[in-house]
Amino acid sequence: MTGVGPFAIPDHLPVAPTSQRLVLNRRGSTVWDAETPAGRFAIKLGYASETHAWTALAPAREGVVLQALGSDAVRYGQWEQGTWNLQPWHVGTDLQRRWEPYRTREKASRPPLPDALACARALAELHDRGVNHGDVQPAHFILSGELTSGSLIDLALARGTEVPPWCDFAYRGCLVHYESPEISRRVLEDGEAAPTPQADVYALGATLLMAATGWRHVEYPDDASRPQQRRAIVNGTHRHVNVAGALGALINEMLRYDADDRPTVREVCDAMEHAV
Ligand SMILES: Nc1ncnc2c1ncn2[C@@H]1O[C@H](COP(=O)(O)OP(=O)(O)OP(=O)(O)O)[C@@H](O)[C@H]1O
Ligand SMILES: [Mg+2]
Repeated sequence: MTGVGPFAIPDHLPVAPTSQRLVLNRRGSTVWDAETPAGRFAIKLGYASETHAWTALAPAREGVVLQALGSDAVRYGQWEQGTWNLQPWHVGTDLQRRWEPYRTREKASRPPLPDALACARALAELHDRGVNHGDVQPAHFILSGELTSGSLIDLALARGTEVPPWCDFAYRGCLVHYESPEISRRVLEDGEAAPTPQADVYALGATLLMAATGWRHVEYPDDASRPQQRRAIVNGTHRHVNVAGALGALINEMLRYDADDRPTVREVCDAMEHAV
């Protein structure tokens, strides 16, 4: 059964919100920000969307990954329309919003390097634990504080932990604006792919470029279909990176076409630490 949401938090979830705010409802996902006596939580309700069935399974899959990574407060399960999870809320601002004041499309952008380092460190922590994110994008980095610390959210597509078959599903690429050429090629040829550390690094480069300048890594028309977007990524080269200094140079390295030519995210962290 499909619905359009937004859906209310089901009564049987092990949570007692004292107040709640709808964060979003789109593409098979309703997300709530809930205050509870046990703390502040994100509550995600997945359901089958008009175009995708896997969105119903995504919250449980993410719950499995988060628990495997040691988040004891995470819970997940099933509800009428699909699966749900609840996870601690990360206070902060996502990278796209945080860099709004610095974003320049025409002249060289100069966003704060400590923010970029916080994003790279969050991804490096995951890679150090043998997990590839698979859906790196500006909205998934939550940053806080003046001495920036960062969290990387939305692990529904991550690979590297055991996932039981009942809530597992194939990886069919991510938001194309952050997809590496090799992932786009696999999705075009086989319909599915596998997240890798190198593809995550490419996506981090595309993420930093987007947040700093508002430009996608590769040029294609706004109304291009998904396959057209992917063909542009496979056949093209990335856009000129108009970001100043060390950050601009590093984004260029992360966006190298061949996966083996890219730095590891640890190398990115080291280079940023030297530059700040
Ligand atoms: N643990 C969290 N802490 C803070 N904010 C969160 C958390 N989880 C989700 N959010 C907020 O909810 C938004 C959607 O969450 P998420 O990306 O995990 O869900 P989604 O179903 O994949 O949504 P989308 O369709 O945007 O990809 C995030 O961009 C963020 O603003
Ligand atoms: Mg998301």
